[in-house]
Amino acid sequence: MAAANARDAGQFTIGGDLKVTRLGFGAMRITGKGIWNQPTDIPEAKRALAALSDHGIDFIDTADSYGPFVSEELIAEVLAPYKGLTVATKGGLTRHGPDIWMPVGRPEYLRQCVLMSLRRLKLEKIDLWQLHRIDAKVPAEEQFGVIAAMQTEGLIRHVGLSEVSVEQIEAAQKHFPVVTVQNQYNLVNRKSEAVLDYCEQKGIGFIPWAPLGSGHLAKPGSVLTKIAEKLGTGPSQVALAWVLKRSPVMLPIPGTGSTAHLAENVAGASIHLSDEDFAALDAQGQGEYAKSV
Ligand SMILES: NC(=O)c1ccc[n+]([C@@H]2O[C@H](COP(=O)([O-])OP(=O)(O)OC[C@H]3O[C@@H](n4cnc5c(N)ncnc54)[C@H](OP(=O)(O)O)[C@@H]3O)[C@@H](O)[C@H]2O)c1
Repeated sequence: MAAANARDAGQFTIGGDLKVTRLGFGAMRITGKGIWNQPTDIPEAKRALAALSDHGIDFIDTADSYGPFVSEELIAEVLAPYKGLTVATKGGLTRHGPDIWMPVGRPEYLRQCVLMSLRRLKLEKIDLWQLHRIDAKVPAEEQFGVIAAMQTEGLIRHVGLSEVSVEQIEAAQKHFPVVTVQNQYNLVNRKSEAVLDYCEQKGIGFIPWAPLGSGHLAKPGSVLTKIAEKLGTGPSQVALAWVLKRSPVMLPIPGTGSTAHLAENVAGASIHLSDEDFAALDAQGQGEYAKSV
């Protein structure tokens, strides 16, 4: 049997000209505990990055704040000059210790984020730069304005947003085309259904962060174990197959620092759920979500 390949999930064109395989890679997990400092097993994290192309993955999501800087630096060390790979990064969150994330949206800081990501990633232009969070302390127009300016200057090719509402997407669209939205979304976290539907209507890529429920859905004994056993696969693969079938604009980026988990997750691209199994999982996920809110 041929090895699993992310390309089985099909492709999506970001912003009309950036074609990527729909199953990507989240590079937040190639860092230390609390997404702080170096990963415990640096050689294994590097092996995971080096294996991406072999698995057919050509879309990597990272951020300056992962480590901070560690994820971007490892990506550049292993993968620059990125033949055939798209590296999407983010800026706008500062780090003051493990698990601490503080938004700073002052225009001069956002400009520094982009300039420093360019240097760390060894790029002249960032294909997809995402505003990690809109900073509530700074007028949104100031944040969107500097992003539009950096796009005009050629530092950024496409712009995405993260953790936003439909209203915020529409406000940003007055300054630049929003080509992707990255909100938390998975089978059991459905708070962004309306945003996902909006993205689908407008052809905006939707990047669900934590598609594996930050690992909870992938664990043996997770809510997906029963259906995974029926399908002869693993829970992480079912979680990914479900989001991939949920919408053609869905671009999941499961995160891992492990080559074994990477290989398992890629196999999710070739699991095609029947309409019946999809609906049963949907109902189960909605039920779990209702219990959690
Ligand atoms: N925009 C935002 O605000 C935001 C927030 C969070 C994350 N993100 C992005 O979204 C990506 C995905 O989110 P995430 O990493 O938080 O969550 P996730 O992809 O739902 O789950 C990742 C966790 O699951 C574990 N895992 C992965 N594959 C597994 C497998 N096959 N079996 C068992 N465990 C497995 C990983 O540990 P191992 O490393 O041990 O495999 C890790 O702890 C991130 O990497 C990042 O790029 C964005």
